[in-house]
Amino acid sequence: MRLDYLTIFPDFFAPLDLSLPGKAADKGLVEFHVHDLRSYTHDKHHRVDDTPYGGGAGMVMKPEPWGEAFDELTRPGSTIIFTTPSGEPFDQRLAADLATREHLVFACGRYEGIDQRVMEHARERAEVREISLGDYVLNGGEVAALAVTEAVVRLLPGFMGNAQSLVEESHADGGLLEYPVYTKPPEWRGHQVPAVLRSGDHGKVERWRHDQAVRRTAERRPDLLSPSTLDDGTPIVRATQGDAAELLTLQRACWVQEALANDSLDIPALHESLDDVRTWLGVWDTWVVRRAGRLVAAVRGRLEGPDQTAWDIGRIMVAPDLQGSGLGRVLLDHIQSVAPATVTWYVLFTGAGSVRNQRMYKKAGFRLRPDLDAPAGAVVLTKRRA
Ligand code: ADE
Repeated sequence: MRLDYLTIFPDFFAPLDLSLPGKAADKGLVEFHVHDLRSYTHDKHHRVDDTPYGGGAGMVMKPEPWGEAFDELTRPGSTIIFTTPSGEPFDQRLAADLATREHLVFACGRYEGIDQRVMEHARERAEVREISLGDYVLNGGEVAALAVTEAVVRLLPGFMGNAQSLVEESHADGGLLEYPVYTKPPEWRGHQVPAVLRSGDHGKVERWRHDQAVRRTAERRPDLLSPSTLDDGTPIVRATQGDAAELLTLQRACWVQEALANDSLDIPALHESLDDVRTWLGVWDTWVVRRAGRLVAAVRGRLEGPDQTAWDIGRIMVAPDLQGSGLGRVLLDHIQSVAPATVTWYVLFTGAGSVRNQRMYKKAGFRLRPDLDAPAGAVVLTKRRA
């Protein structure tokens, strides 16, 4: 891959000789060429800017030097990248896309921006991308061009020593943030390495890492966990501790019905306190639906079994006035879809007398499992993950 940079500050690109990009150049995987935009001017002062038509503060970059530079540098198959705060957001997907190109030309603007005709003209001769590093304004596009370069070049085949680390890092594993990592010593200033990482059980380690990645993403970047939505667009979102009181109310309403259907008050969920709900919210992956601000439905899941390959599904709750609307089935599908990748089967319990629930579970592919243990008055149903 060849990368050209057009800038009025060529010194900004000195880091290209360092570290991994420098090594890639040494290996012949990439070629970097930095050009001073002023070398494409012809006046005594090498001017690259002028006052804006229509008035206003600041200066605008003149079109002529850019035109001459593109004449010299672009060829069929070139992609011209304008780094600008008004571009499309840069992300890992875009980095992977750009890594497939043969030739990138970075146009680094300064001042109030580049004359719009430069972008129009560039589009007539090459593929053009306008890319923003994020929702903030830098003094110029050089830092953004360096960031894009590093993200793209490290994806080139033969660049990274360890291809697996490309797969496991943040934004690569299904768009999740990376799990926390540790190295020796096992204890440092009173902080321990989690025991599971020292257990030698690869399956457990993998599940722990996935779980940590999901938790971290939910806490820091919930926008990355594309929520499922109901047909009307209402999202199914992860529950927070702030939902505990409403969950308790919903739970009581639902389990009174269960108690009547099963002719038994011996149902743990009926007797839980607010603290109990707060406690299980901390350990179960719980999802809720709100309508007009009211919490109307919920479901939870967690890993179970000696080898943690079962996804235990429970507490599918729908407010009494919305039962029969299909919401329970949507939640059942949703909780299966968010099970960690290591899950191979789903398991759930319901009251032996809860005929309506059992019918829904069977329609969703679950089968009664009289061969498995169930609490008194309950039945077990399971389903293999497809
Ligand atoms: N130039 C100035 N601000 C920028 C940003 N946020 N992203 C890309 N280029 C820029």
